[in-house]
Amino acid sequence: MLDIENLFGSSKTSPCVRQVYGVSGSGKTYMLNRAVKAASKSSSFKKFHRFVIYDIKHDGYGCLLNEKKKEYPVSDMEGIIKSIRDNRITLIYPEIEDADFLLEDTIKHIFSLAQNLEDFSATFLLEESSTFIGSHPFSIPKQIKRFATQGRSLGLSLLLVNQRSLNNKWCETQSQGITIFRLSYADSELLKNRWGLNHDEIDLRLRSKKFSFAHYDLESLNLSFYEPIKDDKRPIEAMKGGSGTTRPN
Ligand SMILES: Nc1ncnc2c1ncn2[C@@H]1O[C@H](COP(=O)(O)OP(=O)(O)OP(=O)(O)O)[C@@H](O)[C@H]1O
Ligand SMILES: [Mg+2]
Repeated sequence: MLDIENLFGSSKTSPCVRQVYGVSGSGKTYMLNRAVKAASKSSSFKKFHRFVIYDIKHDGYGCLLNEKKKEYPVSDMEGIIKSIRDNRITLIYPEIEDADFLLEDTIKHIFSLAQNLEDFSATFLLEESSTFIGSHPFSIPKQIKRFATQGRSLGLSLLLVNQRSLNNKWCETQSQGITIFRLSYADSELLKNRWGLNHDEIDLRLRSKKFSFAHYDLESLNLSFYEPIKDDKRPIEAMKGGSGTTRPN
């Protein structure tokens, strides 16, 4: 069952990558916004747990920051280091020209904190992840590979957010689950071939309630459906009837 702990938390026994995808406007950012907000207030995440959002679109997460506390998006290493030190949530707005380098440096910094501070853990949310990750196993930035392979032992987790499913097998082997909003038809073959998921059946269900979403657990192979997010108090709520343990055809 999906909840904010297993969406954002790390587990020493399962892969640390989660994927979230759905077409533009399907509700990914809205849901993640409210879920991050709830998680940031939750005692399930330790005092030194950090939520770091890397948003190349510069869009949709600003309301997570408290301007009264002088929290603003940051776009260079100096700002990132300071924000991660001081704030529960860090919002990074990279410039296109140096987004690749900044991503690598940010992850290096998070690793260094995780290795040196006992209570430090983090959730790293990478928006528009296909900007950085291609379909070939070698087309993944080194630090993302490091995150995916070594992150879980250090309490780190990685969320890859995208409009289409990532056509990268390596990422899949490192993923714990996928949260699926309304999908493009171009993804239906991939869903079927990779996981035996039936796009039409999932889409029929998601279409019946705007902004609803599904979660497919790649370890238990359970598919569950969730209500559209309403607020950040109970951000993730299973749909009545049929959610839970359906193994798709
Ligand atoms: N659960 C919801 N309840 C009410 N409105 C919602 C909900 N989810 C999304 N919306 C509205 O739909 C719009 C699009 O949602 P959102 O920005 O989350 O889409 P997205 O999947 O992140 O799209 P993109 O891939 O283009 O970033 C938002 O402006 C928001 O107001
Ligand atoms: Mg979005």
